[in-house]
Amino acid sequence: MSPRYHSHPAGLPGRCCAIIHPWSGLIFSLLPGQSITFLPMNESHLPRLLQLYQQCEDFLALGPSPHASPEMVLADLALSRQHGGTFYGVFQGKNLAGVLDLVFSGFQGDASRAYLELLMIAPRFRGRGLGKNILAMVEKTLRSAGVATLEADVQVNNPLALRFWQREGFLPIGQPRHQEDGTTTIHLIKPLV
Ligand SMILES: CC(C)(COP(=O)(O)OP(=O)(O)OC[C@H]1O[C@@H](n2cnc3c(N)ncnc32)[C@H](O)[C@@H]1OP(=O)(O)O)[C@@H](O)C(=O)NCCC(=O)NCCS
Repeated sequence: MSPRYHSHPAGLPGRCCAIIHPWSGLIFSLLPGQSITFLPMNESHLPRLLQLYQQCEDFLALGPSPHASPEMVLADLALSRQHGGTFYGVFQGKNLAGVLDLVFSGFQGDASRAYLELLMIAPRFRGRGLGKNILAMVEKTLRSAGVATLEADVQVNNPLALRFWQREGFLPIGQPRHQEDGTTTIHLIKPLV
């Protein structure tokens, strides 16, 4: 996932417990030794989101706009809404550890397809299994809702992320595609059923 196409060991059944309220967009989960809360974010959270984006400029540097700005955050929130997604803040305790932008179903008009528009975790929270846990919770929810595939796009110049997605069972589909923003991305699909 480019900054626009980034869209971002408790994955085993029984190791994570997620209570999800799709109507309110709220997910609350308890993992062994770790609690994660997903809260829908909007324009009123701009200062906090901007701070997170600023921490993630190593990732933004892979795309067309290396510096975080209010306009970038607002554009991501607007795009999420436009695509029928929910833009979550991922909290560990009171800390905003990352963001997740997810279209739960209806990707490209197909109710059985979900799309992960963005998963971006602040550097100090990376590499500790948070990404894997988030994905496990998302997948569990999608499966129970009967969604058949979770899809994403990853930039070709983000090999660490590509490795992450492939290790999580995502399969690259088709040829890399040049996007309007100048990035080149690979489409990824994970079958859920
Ligand atoms: C990719 C990302 C969501 C993974 O979340 P995470 O919590 O770091 O992942 P986990 O701890 O569950 O797994 C670690 C794996 O993530 C991958 N990874 C990708 N980018 C990473 C980064 N910048 N730092 C550390 N690990 C990263 C590695 O493959 C790592 O595996 P390894 O331990 O074998 O090296 C997170 O690192 C991140 O937000 N990176 C920056 C933004 C990004 O690239 N998002 C995805 C866009 S497609």
